[in-house]
Amino acid sequence: MVCTNYIDGRWIPSRSGKISDNRSPANRDDLVGSFQASTPEDAVDAIAAASRAFASWRLVPAPKRAEILFRAAALIAARKEQYARDMTREMGKVLEETRGDVQEAVDMTYFMAGEGRRLYGQTVPSELRNKFAMSIRQPVGVCAVITPWNFPMAIPSWKIIPALVCGNTVVFKPATLTPLSAINFVAVLEEAGVPPGVVNLVTGGADVGTALSTHPDVSVVSFTGSTAVGRLVNQSAASAFKKVHLEMGGKNVVMIMDDAQLDLAVDGCLWGGFGTTGQRCTAASRVVVHERVYDAFVEAFVERARTLRVGDGLDPAVQMGPSVSEAQLATVERYVEIGRQEGARLLTGGRRLCDGAYERGFFHEPTIFGEVAPTMRIAQEEIFGPVVSVMRCRSLDEAIAIGNGVAYGLSASIYTRDVNAAFTAMRDLYTGIFYVNAPTIGAEVHLPFGGTRATGNGHREAGTAALDVFSEWKSIYVDFSGHLQRAQIDTE
Ligand code: UN1
Repeated sequence: MVCTNYIDGRWIPSRSGKISDNRSPANRDDLVGSFQASTPEDAVDAIAAASRAFASWRLVPAPKRAEILFRAAALIAARKEQYARDMTREMGKVLEETRGDVQEAVDMTYFMAGEGRRLYGQTVPSELRNKFAMSIRQPVGVCAVITPWNFPMAIPSWKIIPALVCGNTVVFKPATLTPLSAINFVAVLEEAGVPPGVVNLVTGGADVGTALSTHPDVSVVSFTGSTAVGRLVNQSAASAFKKVHLEMGGKNVVMIMDDAQLDLAVDGCLWGGFGTTGQRCTAASRVVVHERVYDAFVEAFVERARTLRVGDGLDPAVQMGPSVSEAQLATVERYVEIGRQEGARLLTGGRRLCDGAYERGFFHEPTIFGEVAPTMRIAQEEIFGPVVSVMRCRSLDEAIAIGNGVAYGLSASIYTRDVNAAFTAMRDLYTGIFYVNAPTIGAEVHLPFGGTRATGNGHREAGTAALDVFSEWKSIYVDFSGHLQRAQIDTE
């Protein structure tokens, strides 16, 4: 199967004439498809189409734009199983999770389509007689949407759907590892009635992304990926004053206090640490445990991690899939080695799985390090794999200090039955998302999603906060007095 780009309402090949093959990370013999290896010229074509389409799309009433999106949500819901299977094949996470990914796209699409009848602004009294004052949201223009492989349909929906409901047009560059889910998503938008040029899809590598973030006709760049690449995107978009939304790395902490319900905390750490094979920006990659319950927690956590069934995500019995690629797996192996050398105690895992059914994929054991010091690299750097670092603390204050002691600020969580401790932590963790008695993953679509410091640049996606990325405020004053009235001067 050779898949094409989608530009100006047509499914067309790249000008490069080149394609590249994608194979399942669980089984290299499984060819998922061949996709366009696009060039910056393709990106420029897509931007031109999006610029043309903007002239009419911005004038379609928002409730009408939303009707198309409601149809898209229903279509995605109806095809959930197929899209989930495609996604598991192309990036490896287990079917239950890819169904959740598709569901998240459905939820986001319904939620944002609802905004078509809201997009609330403010109507305020004027300080002058016979004068009217209000603010409205206006579309910004062409939005470049650059997305990662770990949530191949959910994350594109977080960006594309709010962009569309606000009246913008889109050029979408998905991760090179997950073009199929992107094509599924865009094909649904086409079928639902999104007009030609309003959404364009260009598959390819980093040079396509650079073409988008530097092009003068692109007004918004929304990027999810690593902090290193996010920095480059930000720099390349800066000189043209583009609006840039960045959602980047995380090193999220679960804090387990001495009054915590330990079995609940173990469940949470397994799901938060090894769900999506640890490849979430919200992954619970650090666990800080009160010294009074440290041994009991670690024993149970390690025992449960050992029983996790690793394998092909298409098998319903499997609980943890492969790493997404050889490079990602190599990163995991590198950090396991770093952890060993730093003197952390390898409690379970630590090896690549290569035999038998694992031979043709990128599998790794669920891995837990204990006695980790907060300053170690495995406790500071995002690994994006099935590796959890467990640390000891003596108090809530120390747990909070360790929790905040990283460059990132996406998500954090506390397990405790003490309401005072919960509220203190809720207030003092400098993150964009916080959980009580739940792991660091599992954000819902109708609240803001994003983080502080090296995780983000102050914007949020999801919830109504996303509208601030994809629209521009305009304040409007209507003077119906028939004579000149001067604000701040004609005060009597
Ligand atoms: C990500 O890890 O990039 O909150 C997104 C969660 C999911 C989204 C994660 N709803 O874990």
